[in-house]
Amino acid sequence: MKVAVLGAAGGIGQALSLLLKTQLPAGSELSLYDVAPVVPGVAVDLSHIPTAVTVEGFGVDALDKALTGADIVIIPAGMPRKPGMDRADLFAVNAGIIKTLAEGIAANCPKALVGVITNPVNGTVPIVAEVFKKAGTYDKNRVFGVTTLDVIRSEAFVAELKGLDVSQVKVPVIGGHSGTTILPLLSQVEGVTFSEEEVAALTPRIQNAGTEVVNAKAGGGSATLSMGAAAARFCLSLVKGLQGEDVVDYAYVDVDGGDADFFAHPVRLGVNGVAEILPYGKLSAFEEKAKNDMLATLNADIKEGVDFINA
Ligand code: NAI
Repeated sequence: MKVAVLGAAGGIGQALSLLLKTQLPAGSELSLYDVAPVVPGVAVDLSHIPTAVTVEGFGVDALDKALTGADIVIIPAGMPRKPGMDRADLFAVNAGIIKTLAEGIAANCPKALVGVITNPVNGTVPIVAEVFKKAGTYDKNRVFGVTTLDVIRSEAFVAELKGLDVSQVKVPVIGGHSGTTILPLLSQVEGVTFSEEEVAALTPRIQNAGTEVVNAKAGGGSATLSMGAAAARFCLSLVKGLQGEDVVDYAYVDVDGGDADFFAHPVRLGVNGVAEILPYGKLSAFEEKAKNDMLATLNADIKEGVDFINA
């Protein structure tokens, strides 16, 4: 199993690479790429951890080498938010970065499963899809927006609010990955009921949790450690799927005839990526309204990504 991390020298990239070095199956290869000159050093640093995962670092001129033979590519490359910015403000910088990296994937590992972390995820995932379509390599089952951070935050917040064992809490989160497009389905949390007031308070807390971190870091970046943990969890789900295990996780994927062209759903993962997009079940009246209210925003975000490649 070869996993490439693009943007591996950044806050998320380093946390993710550390977790993959310690958690990927024995015999895996970890390929770290970044335009920052420190990336070979990150690889050397990680290589001193005694696990049966090999690590190699690749600098700005070696994207092709970093990607050749990759089974999975995870992308946290690009600019994070500062206080006062929303994820859409990042589009101008990050769209071009994602385009270049997607072109590299199409040329060097067109069959890889690709997990996009770079914000705004609502628009960067359609960019990857459009680049792959132009290259003739698009397979909608192999491209994922990583929304796992919304899921793990929801688990943490629900467990905290209700005094539960967090390892037993499961919270479905659907939609997109910014503001109101993030839709936690609190009505579906097993064994827990929430009052209307709790739903009205917890839903926006989950939606704005990223801003909570951005403001607390006061200009020093956005979520990196929790995102590293989330990305590792999602990457390991992809690995299990590739190894033939039956695994279901949440991701922002291309949904034919869904609520929007891309929408986070529970997905069954397999040896070819998405094996099945599962229905998200019955929504409460609150959730149904929240979904209908956010679709225009989500569709506009998707269109921005598609237009960036095609306009
Ligand atoms: P960071 O600034 O710490 O790291 C970004 C890294 O990307 C840097 O090492 C930089 O050198 C590298 N980079 C820039 N251009 C590149 C290129 N063309 N090729 C390869 N590497 C390149 O940022 P951080 O905090 O790691 O965030 C990365 C991205 O992840 C941001 O866009 C952020 O908004 C997003 N993010 C997404 C989340 C999600 O839930 N999907 C959660 C948190 C952040």
